[in-house]
Amino acid sequence: MKRDFLALTDMTSDELLGTISLARELKRQRQLGQCPQALAGLTVGCIFHKPSLRTRISFETGIHDLGGHSLYITKDEIDLGKRETIEDAARVLSRYLGMIMIRTFSHADVEKLAKYASVPVINGLTDFLHPCQVLGDLMTIQEHLGAVEGVKVTYLGDGNNMTNSWINAARRLPLEVTLATAEGAPPSLDLLQKAKDEGAKVRWIHDPAAAVKGAHVIYTDVWASMGQKDKAEDKARLLAPFQVNAELLKGADPRHIVMHCLPAERGKEITDEVMDGPHSVVFDQAENRLHIQKAIMARLMEWAG
Ligand code: CP
Ligand code: NVA
Repeated sequence: MKRDFLALTDMTSDELLGTISLARELKRQRQLGQCPQALAGLTVGCIFHKPSLRTRISFETGIHDLGGHSLYITKDEIDLGKRETIEDAARVLSRYLGMIMIRTFSHADVEKLAKYASVPVINGLTDFLHPCQVLGDLMTIQEHLGAVEGVKVTYLGDGNNMTNSWINAARRLPLEVTLATAEGAPPSLDLLQKAKDEGAKVRWIHDPAAAVKGAHVIYTDVWASMGQKDKAEDKARLLAPFQVNAELLKGADPRHIVMHCLPAERGKEITDEVMDGPHSVVFDQAENRLHIQKAIMARLMEWAG
């Protein structure tokens, strides 16, 4: 059956952990110059309405590794939802492509694309969620800390697609997630409530020092996301107390790791000292995007039959 990956909650806990295991195996195989040809003979359309380094290059490389062909499609080509309806574009794209990856603004647009596409659709980031990033991050946590179960993840900074994806991670896996943001920069409060109602261990607080206390993972992201750069100055003022710096990290677990989805605005949400310091795993995270996305694509092909 065709399945999509628009949110971490599109997979069960076992499927998420199984995808991480597969990604680790694909990482091992790549070091030996091997890769299963799960996309042989297929073209994957990669639609980008926002810029990208990691997502674009890791998807294109991963599709190539899996024996497929990738197409980079920007607003200039299809202008999704403007030149023709999303429903029509989804139906037409499905006649050519084996899979679609999309990065855009509106999450509802991606849901509509997935509803009308007969091929699997992967969310490469919307304003609401960035599931490929957090699944790759869970892989990085497993590699560095041995497991994801019981890990205390503290996110500091802006309430955005990353905070929302961490909420979804806590809905599926036994993590303890603390989101420390300003009251004026909240995560999705609807999603937070839903997660709490389901019994997920997730809290939203405003005290950075309390948030890092005993944390195993310290996570941050840019203060102004793509599409919000006009709010950068206001956000910088609001979020300055949430900067990840050496002083703040004194309260974290001594074995903590520091994570950032990148791109970073060094000197704003994270200092050079921390980003380049011994606890930082930011470039392992970036590498793991490649392995996890290969695993996601291989799984979706398997499920599609
Ligand atoms: N982390 C991430 O998704 O990076 P890009 O915006 O460069 O793709
Ligand atoms: N929150 C950031 C994540 C970038 C990977 C953004 O949406 O721009």
